[in-house]
Amino acid sequence: MKKIAVFTSGGDAPGMNACIRAVVRGAIYHGLEVYGIRRGYNGMISGDIIPMNSQSVSNIVQLGGTVLKSARSKEFMTPEGRKKAYENLMAHGIEGLVAIGGNGTFTGAEVFFNEYQLPTVGCPGTIDNDLYGTDYTIGFDTAVNTSLEAIDKIRDTADSHDRVFFIEVMGRDSGYIAIQSGIGGGAEIVMVPETRTPLKKVVGTLKEGWTRKKTSSIIVVAEGDEEGHAAEIADKIKSQVGDKLDIRVTTLGHIQRGGSPTAYDRILASRMGLNAVEGLIKGEKNVMAGIINNEVVFTPFIDTIKKQKPIHEDLLRMVHILSI
Ligand code: F6P
Repeated sequence: MKKIAVFTSGGDAPGMNACIRAVVRGAIYHGLEVYGIRRGYNGMISGDIIPMNSQSVSNIVQLGGTVLKSARSKEFMTPEGRKKAYENLMAHGIEGLVAIGGNGTFTGAEVFFNEYQLPTVGCPGTIDNDLYGTDYTIGFDTAVNTSLEAIDKIRDTADSHDRVFFIEVMGRDSGYIAIQSGIGGGAEIVMVPETRTPLKKVVGTLKEGWTRKKTSSIIVVAEGDEEGHAAEIADKIKSQVGDKLDIRVTTLGHIQRGGSPTAYDRILASRMGLNAVEGLIKGEKNVMAGIINNEVVFTPFIDTIKKQKPIHEDLLRMVHILSI
């Protein structure tokens, strides 16, 4: 293998730049030529493919977002789009790919590999931490810390005004950001898609708190919770408790995707990027480079997207016990 290309795709995540840097410098170290594809699969289709060298990735390890930019490509979902992408890669003589992204990225990579057999190794880049085959994904730690900072601030005002706050965090169908920022922020309740929290239970916990003279509470809601979005849940709770509780809602939104990556994310991303390149050189293909129990593990794309990644029981159990 002489030439590889790297791209970021799907929702950006803090640490993606550290990963790009590790791929580029790792490839150069091993004597490969390396290209960057801009805007994910869209750039592959339009031929937005640029040569990269060691200097192209100077001073980016600390930056949030992705210098290669990102997109969710509709065209890559079509056989015509993928054909154009393959032709562009071949025109540049690219023999291997490193795909940095999440679920959607690896779904595309799996289909593409099955059609064209171009060796691809993925690096899990998503704040959601929803990929099977790795304990943590690039960007998750930073997103949790960003949410935690916001929760701490909201707690100050919740406490001053004796209010109940419903705080919605991202995560798509996963409750990882919610559970970790909820525990870290001392939330009274955390609502996640992995386990149902009936509204009756939420009302019960709030009433119980209030008989114990607890004047403010924080409820962290994962955006994918089956009871609905935080605003809907808060409305339903208001209709049950009336004026007894002063309820407010905050949706943290895309703030969770930005910012300088934490040390943990930079190191995780660097390790995954370098191992993805070395994996490609050793003949790995159609797999994601993850880290499980501090060891690098390659997992087939199909498993990373299809297999469930459960939240540890202990975390779910802890929320209730620690909020009494
Ligand atoms: O996958 C990352 C993520 O931020 C999810 O947590 C969220 O549901 C989604 O992307 C939002 O996507 P978009 O930025 O396209 O609205």
